[in-house]
Amino acid sequence: LGKEIVYYDEVESTNSIAKELAGKYPEGTIVIAETQKKGRGRMGSDWLSLPGGIWFSVILKPSIPLEYVAKMTLVAGLAVTKAMRDLGVDARIKWPNDVLINGKKVCGILTEVDAEVEQVEHVILGIGINANVRLNEFREDIKENSTSIEAELGEPIDRISFIKDLLFQLEQEYIKFKTQQFSNVVSEWISLSDTIGKKVTVTTPTKITEGKAVGITDRGALLILTDNNVKEEIIAGRCRYIK
Ligand code: BTN
Repeated sequence: LGKEIVYYDEVESTNSIAKELAGKYPEGTIVIAETQKKGRGRMGSDWLSLPGGIWFSVILKPSIPLEYVAKMTLVAGLAVTKAMRDLGVDARIKWPNDVLINGKKVCGILTEVDAEVEQVEHVILGIGINANVRLNEFREDIKENSTSIEAELGEPIDRISFIKDLLFQLEQEYIKFKTQQFSNVVSEWISLSDTIGKKVTVTTPTKITEGKAVGITDRGALLILTDNNVKEEIIAGRCRYIK
């Protein structure tokens, strides 16, 4: 990954550009920008891209059925978490793919596909990391639950070498995803998970499920044991912890 790098000082969203370029550029192309004016988050939210962060998108062409895309999201979260742990911070994954340090969000991942077709051609992994971001720059509404690598480590990181390690980790996980059983990804994901074992509510456009997060299924869904002792599988949604 990263043999081809498309760099911009400023863009609206690296994911939008990566989507446009996906047909013309090879698999593994990175679209990276110093700042984003209209960074996009999951479920239609906006994404604040403060100076010092790392904002990029990876173009992948795995040629998988649409239902596998949730798995790719877990793969990306795992790779980012591993790269952060290489820096010496205790990064953990909150389902589906937020990376947390000390319970606060440091990275978000937005996985997008070329179209809602049965067989996906392009997967865009959009990764946003609060690397060398100052905590006092966060907007009031996200201040409480957000952090940066710099704040947690007590010093700024070398963004270039971190990105190199991150792309290496991502490539490794992507190869494993394509060549090994998914249960290998799942067991590693679970070992670095912040969510498994916690009481959660997961909101999807059609329902709200409450219970204990007990596992990840073979198709990459979160398994919840509800208070009525029923197991429910949720493939995508917004997850909140219940105190
Ligand atoms: C989320 O947690 O809601 C996902 C945030 C994803 C942000 C990244 S930054 C690079 C890429 N470009 C975007 O517009 N979004 C993703």
